[in-house]
Amino acid sequence: MHSWALTAMVAYVLLLWFVEVCMGMPDPRQRDMLMRQEVSRQTGGRVILTAAEQRLDAYLHRLKQQEMSAAQFPPAVHFFKAKPLIQSSPVFSLLRKMPKGGALHIHHSSLVSVEWLVKNVTYRPHCYICFTWDNSVRFLFSSRQPFPRWDCFYWQLLETLRAKMGDCTDFDNSLIQNLTLFTEDPDTAYPSQDIVWEKFEKAFISAAGLITHAPVLKDYFYRGLEELHQDNVMYLELRSGLSRTYELDGTIHDKIWSLKTFQEATKQFVADHPDFLGARIIITVKAAVKEAIQMQRDFPDVVAGFDLVGREDSGRTLWYFREALSLPADLGVTLPYFFHAGETDEEGTDVDQNILDALLFNTTRIGHGYALAHHPLAKELSRKKNVAVEVCPISNQVLKLILDLRNHPAAVLMSEGHPLVISSDDPSLFGTTGLSYDFYQAFVGIGGLKANLGTLKELAINSIRYSSLPPHLKETGLAMWQNKWDVFISDFL
Ligand SMILES: *[C@@H]1O[C@H](CO)[C@@H](O)[C@H](O)[C@H]1NC(C)=O
Ligand SMILES: *[C@@H]1O[C@H](CO)[C@@H](O)[C@H](O)[C@H]1NC(C)=O
Ligand SMILES: *[C@@H]1O[C@H](CO)[C@@H](O)[C@H](O)[C@H]1NC(C)=O
Ligand SMILES: [Zn+2]
Repeated sequence: MHSWALTAMVAYVLLLWFVEVCMGMPDPRQRDMLMRQEVSRQTGGRVILTAAEQRLDAYLHRLKQQEMSAAQFPPAVHFFKAKPLIQSSPVFSLLRKMPKGGALHIHHSSLVSVEWLVKNVTYRPHCYICFTWDNSVRFLFSSRQPFPRWDCFYWQLLETLRAKMGDCTDFDNSLIQNLTLFTEDPDTAYPSQDIVWEKFEKAFISAAGLITHAPVLKDYFYRGLEELHQDNVMYLELRSGLSRTYELDGTIHDKIWSLKTFQEATKQFVADHPDFLGARIIITVKAAVKEAIQMQRDFPDVVAGFDLVGREDSGRTLWYFREALSLPADLGVTLPYFFHAGETDEEGTDVDQNILDALLFNTTRIGHGYALAHHPLAKELSRKKNVAVEVCPISNQVLKLILDLRNHPAAVLMSEGHPLVISSDDPSLFGTTGLSYDFYQAFVGIGGLKANLGTLKELAINSIRYSSLPPHLKETGLAMWQNKWDVFISDFL
């Protein structure tokens, strides 16, 4: 029996006794004890805070109360409208400074902010652009005028095009628009999940020509780590399909090249920033389990495991791929899984069932698990197996699973202390960098007034504890994190 179950039983017996003895009004001491017991079950509920931490906690609590009583409560409005409010929030600026541990759920194609792609990458020489019939753009680096393609008839050299323009601000902003979901009026622009996903996929396709250019890729990874580091994140697990890349003359490099480039960029970054722990990849090539097994064998330090990605609601289910997914067990090899599962608000659908299948396939963590709160058995199982849920609040809101984040189902998981980590999913598409925006939503919106500094501490520690790192590196990581945390606390005083 869990110790909390035992305490709950004791409390219940005591309660019965009180009801018998006192009748009438509930005993205030009893009430107080029950309330404290309930809070102790939440994420971070058993974390013991030092005196200095308690002072910061009290301060955060007051700040949060103020934000909750303001005219507009950021977690209750669409992130595209809430972003400026969050940026001016004192809770947010504390969260920016807080060491947040690792980012365990971010996708390769949306790792780096779009401003950098446009202001840096599209300004490099030999960059061509093409305007497509559906009001979108494609990019291609080439040493000579590119041939027409099925989706692109006429390629223009950006350098020439910009020279003709004079002021490029509006043009650059329109390119930024092409590469993100950001819009002033998201409710009108994205009336349904289908429409927002369509734009989501378009943005990926537009960015592809930029980030699959071989010389860009290394800078891209490095820049991605830099943006995380600037937000006080010290580790990354990146989901990547490891696209092939191309050179100016059209030479193509294979996936292994991308993997090695990631490894080199990470090594370089850690050499330049010794307080950064590292980065690993979760391979997301559809049904390429065999390939993933091989890559994990060849690059055990870099490859964390495997996931199937894409929009679950329109893709194939885990059960559909059951034969491929059984391969590692059949071959007697280990390939850790990190499945997206239950990223849906529709109960009883195939996607909804993915949650239980992910657990049956021994997933290490669950990506999103938005539907988990509605699956009592799966929830019990994931708790028993210590499988953390990767909660990405802003993603769920922008992709229209939920509007008011106070009602996010992770509130249930958080109040029960289910293993959780917070991540950002597709930061560049949503207009976030690092983890602070998502931490803000989780701390202020999902957690409400109950979430405290202990919650934040546990969420940060969880991101190392539930990472794919081997035990000795987890220890190193936790020690590094603790040092940063101590500095964070003493800086506040
Ligand atoms: C683009 O970024 C690279 C490094 O990632 C840097 O060396 C270069 O100076 C930047 N160029 C511009 C135009 O900002
Ligand atoms: C994409 O950029 C082009 C070029 O500036 C622009 O004409 C078009 O409106 C943009 N499309 C979107 C969806 O923002
Ligand atoms: C999952 O783990 C259980 C228990 O360790 C094992 O018996 C089973 O074969 C595993 N299943 C898969 C698909 O790896
Ligand atoms: Zn995802």
